[in-house]
Amino acid sequence: MNNNIVVAIDGYSSCGKSTLAKALAKKLHFIYADSGAMYRSVALYFIRNNVDISNHNEVVKALKNIHLNFHSRDYQTHITLNDEDVSAEIRQMHVADSVSAVAALHDVRVEMVRQQQRMGKSKNVVMDGRDIGTVVFPHAQVKLFMTADPKIRAERRYKELLPTNPSITLEEVFESLAHRDYADTTRKESPLIRAEDAIILDNTDLSPEQQLDFALNLVKPLII
Ligand code: DC
Repeated sequence: MNNNIVVAIDGYSSCGKSTLAKALAKKLHFIYADSGAMYRSVALYFIRNNVDISNHNEVVKALKNIHLNFHSRDYQTHITLNDEDVSAEIRQMHVADSVSAVAALHDVRVEMVRQQQRMGKSKNVVMDGRDIGTVVFPHAQVKLFMTADPKIRAERRYKELLPTNPSITLEEVFESLAHRDYADTTRKESPLIRAEDAIILDNTDLSPEQQLDFALNLVKPLII
């Protein structure tokens, strides 16, 4: 019997899921898995190879040629797409703007969920995403559903993007987030919803340290 611990963190884009997930994994020496990075890498492959996402056969064929791997280094996301480190490129706006449509595809989700479940089979893991507590690990021991004020989320993401994209505006980032929230919560396949047993964490007014303490208090009692 496996008695490894899975911490599932779901929530809207840019509300601090990965900041919390990384900090928690580091503190507890768990594996950190950023499921959004996987969908972003698939979207990047589709952009580069002009995959027509309305063509089922093209999508299935493309998925067979995509090999993703996480490389753990100091709990940052280092993901390779067919052996190329794409960790920086998948954060760019051209990927952000196309990823929702890619993540809504049934075949893409089936393949990603299969890979994600494998990661949580025998190791202690913190995984963040949109369907981790509902679909990927419905029996996760700890489930958090994160949310924050949309304006605060846009400001946080804007500050992250500015160094590599100095011409970007706060309005553009706000619009892009609103578009993704809408797409993620209304799609047919595994929409973003709170698992019934997930604990809501609104971090609008919380510091990273405060949210880490909140999560640690939930996980620590489970560690023997
Ligand atoms: O968390 P993120 O912003 O890196 O996610 C990128 C996109 O992938 C976002 O549009 C939602 C989607 N996603 C998903 O559908 N399911 C997940 N488990 C993780 C991300």
